[in-house]
Amino acid sequence: MRRLPFIAGNWKMNKTVEEALLLTRELKEALNEVKDVEVAIAPPFTALYPVFQELKGSSIRLACQNLFWEEKGAYTGEVSPLMLKEVGCRYVIIGHSERRQYFGETDETVNRRIKAALKVGLKVIFCIGETLSERENGETFSVIERQVKGGLQGLGEKEIEDLVIAYEPVWAIGTGKTATPQQAQEVHRFIRAQLRQLFSDGLAEDVRVQYGGSVTPENIKGLMAQEDIDGALVGGASLKAESFSRIVRFREM
Ligand code: 13P
Repeated sequence: MRRLPFIAGNWKMNKTVEEALLLTRELKEALNEVKDVEVAIAPPFTALYPVFQELKGSSIRLACQNLFWEEKGAYTGEVSPLMLKEVGCRYVIIGHSERRQYFGETDETVNRRIKAALKVGLKVIFCIGETLSERENGETFSVIERQVKGGLQGLGEKEIEDLVIAYEPVWAIGTGKTATPQQAQEVHRFIRAQLRQLFSDGLAEDVRVQYGGSVTPENIKGLMAQEDIDGALVGGASLKAESFSRIVRFREM
C-alpha cells in the first residue's frame, strides 16, 4: 500500500465543548483498534484544546478548519498558525468551499494560508472542487486546474509532502448527492496528473487525495475502491460516532 488511507471528519460549526468531548470519547472507544487508516477530527476552534487533551494516548489526529496567515498582530477575530499548533493541531483544513463561498476566500488567500501553515509545521488539507454550474458548463477540469495551480503557487516539492488534497465537488456537499465513484476517480486522476506536471511523478504518487461530499457508511467502500481515492473528508456523517467509525472501518463494510 503506497498511500495510507486518510479519513478526516470536518465538524464545521457544530458541537459545544461538552458535545465535542462526548463525541471524542465515543470515537476513541470505537476506533481503538483501527490500524492502517489515519484518522483526524476537526472540531470548531473553541473545542480544540479540550479535545486535544481528551485525545492524549489516542492515534486520532487533531485538525482545525481555518487559520490566518499572519504570525500575530492587530487582526481582530483571527487565529494564527502557531496558536493552532500550540493547542495540538496536526492538520489544518484550508480553502473549504464554504469559506470560498461565504467568506471571500480566493485561490490567492488560500495560497497564503497554505504557506503560513506549512511554515510552522502544520500539515494541510487543501480543498478544491467545482460548483454545479461549473460542472454543467463543462468547466470541471479547468476549475480544478486553476485551484490547484493557484493554491500551490510558489511551493516546492518538499513542502507538498505535508499536504493532502481534498476534492469536494460543491454540488455534493451536504446535499446527499455523492459523486459516483467513477466521477470522483476521473477528477482525482486529473489532480494527480496536475501534480505530476507541476512537481514530479514520485510526488504525484505520494500525495493523498481525499474525496468529500455526502460520504456515508454506505458509499465509502465504492469510493475507496478507486485507484486514486485515498480517503475521505466527511461532514455530516462525522458528527456521530456510529457513522464516522463505520466510515473509518470501510474495509469491514
Ligand atoms: P458533507 O459530508 O456533509 O456533505 O460535507 C462534506 C464536507 O464539506 C467536508 O468538508
